[in-house]
Amino acid sequence: MAADPEALIPRLQNHPEYGPRFETAFPAEKPGAAVSLETIARALAAFERTLVFSNSRYDRFVRGDRDALMTPERRGLNLFRSLKTRCFECHQPPTFASPVPGSIGLAPLTAGVDHDPLDSRPQLLEVPSLRNVALTAPYMHDGSLEDLESVIRFYADGGQRTRSQPFLDTRIRPFELDQSEMEDLVAFLGALTDTGPVARRPPRVRESAHANEVEEATASSDVPRPRSSPPR
Ligand code: HEC
Repeated sequence: MAADPEALIPRLQNHPEYGPRFETAFPAEKPGAAVSLETIARALAAFERTLVFSNSRYDRFVRGDRDALMTPERRGLNLFRSLKTRCFECHQPPTFASPVPGSIGLAPLTAGVDHDPLDSRPQLLEVPSLRNVALTAPYMHDGSLEDLESVIRFYADGGQRTRSQPFLDTRIRPFELDQSEMEDLVAFLGALTDTGPVARRPPRVRESAHANEVEEATASSDVPRPRSSPPR
């Protein structure tokens, strides 16, 4: 949240919406002191556990609604699980993530750590979930790819093999993809979007670009918008 804790805690405690909500959620805390870094962290963690996205059009298709996916998306699904692209081997349903990290050529961010150019061990990255991926550009841990087409092109070009990254996962190899196949694959990734469980903002909390500016607002209970453009 990039907020200064010294300022944030009294601000939330005295806030007409958050203050009482923290008191209710954490009755064991001393009255007037329910907001702390620990209760904020527990509240955020509890909130994140409610974000279960399992009602995308892909999920409905898998549950038997054959009309839930349009033809290009269905072709995209077939490409995603084909031996040509091998996407599904790392991004495994139902989460489209993997517990096993992979080396796709991108170097992990090593802030403050000098990377030895002669250290040629494979550099492993967590395989992230692709659910709601159409809403979360830019991509990769360093945000280096700006849209889904760039990500797919990255894979079709065989990942990124550099001198300090000689080892790529064997599932990353160049493949041919024509423009309509590219569009089908992007369309399929868009079918993993499910904004159903996104919470409503409490009525007296206005969207703010900065957490230090949590303010009162009279009537704004819009569903938060995704940060980036919707799936194409
Ligand atoms: C060898 C395993 C592997 C294969 C095969 C693979 N991926 Fe990935 N994928 C990864 C890893 C690891 C990352 C995380 C990279 C990073 O954080 O920089 C990733 C990241 C992504 C992202 C970005 C997610 C985000 O939120 O930033 C997308 C989109 C994606 N992959 C789609 C695909 C598609 C489409 C294919 C098939 C063409 C594919 N992947 C094949 C391992 C793989």
